[in-house]
Amino acid sequence: MHIFSNVAELRAALARVRQQGRSIAFVPTMGNLHAGHISLMQQARQHADCVVASIFVNRLQFGPNEDFDKYPRTFEADCTQLRDAGVEFLFAPTEQDLYPEPQTYMVEPPEIQHMLEGEVRPGHFRGVATVVMKLFQIVQPDVALFGKKDYQQLMVLRNMAQQFMLPIKIIGGETVRADDGLALSSRNSYLNATERAEAPRLQQVLQGIRQAVLNGQRNYEQLCQEAADTLNTHGWQTDYISIRRQQDLVPAGPDDRHLVIVAASRLGIPRLLDNLEI
Ligand code: PAJ
Repeated sequence: MHIFSNVAELRAALARVRQQGRSIAFVPTMGNLHAGHISLMQQARQHADCVVASIFVNRLQFGPNEDFDKYPRTFEADCTQLRDAGVEFLFAPTEQDLYPEPQTYMVEPPEIQHMLEGEVRPGHFRGVATVVMKLFQIVQPDVALFGKKDYQQLMVLRNMAQQFMLPIKIIGGETVRADDGLALSSRNSYLNATERAEAPRLQQVLQGIRQAVLNGQRNYEQLCQEAADTLNTHGWQTDYISIRRQQDLVPAGPDDRHLVIVAASRLGIPRLLDNLEI
């Protein structure tokens, strides 16, 4: 695996790949890699000849009171995993490499950036969209892969690629979970042992909602409120649980099909995200 921090050097190497007629798949990450990230790398190999990963903890997408400084950084272990997964190029820029001057031009996503995660994390999706646009300009991949674990992020980026007519196919990868159902996340490392044992309840209440909907229950507000109450009596602080339309994340009505239950709830230090499609 070749590791680059310099933009021009990476571009030169990727130009050679394209000259060889080889296609490129790209998986951006913030590092501290786990099996969820690695499954995206493995899927990437099925979609293109050359897999490019990036590791960059993007300050632009963190709020002032968020964990940018404390975000887990495990570069050496990450490299080992990427090598084993068959990644050919790793782009790991410094802030100076990616933001040589203050980023004053921004990619401003539409209304969707203010709902759900965006309501709790103002500016988050602007930061995500801006850095991913920059990374896309640098790597110019044929396909890019993102996890469904961050459902709203996947939607923001898919719509961005479409509206800006980027010639990049966006692929969503299924959420990888621990044996007890907890979605893998770098922020799970903030959980203590008691909280870790409690954490699978998030996915369990989503499964409960899904079953109720499949059984014909249509009072979505009540279903979600009950699920939030269940979590909150077990020590969680729930930001939202909501049943949305998969296509645009608008609140679902009783006649809508192709739904997704999205949730974010704090347990101890971390806010955990999860979702479940119906
Ligand atoms: P990060 O949180 O490191 O996630 C990188 C990619 O891995 C994202 O597409 C995310 O959805 C996916 N992922 C995380 N946990 C997963 C799981 N359990 N199963 C499957 N996929 C999973 O998301 C980001 O970084 C950043 O916002 C980024 C897109 C890199 C922009 O900075």
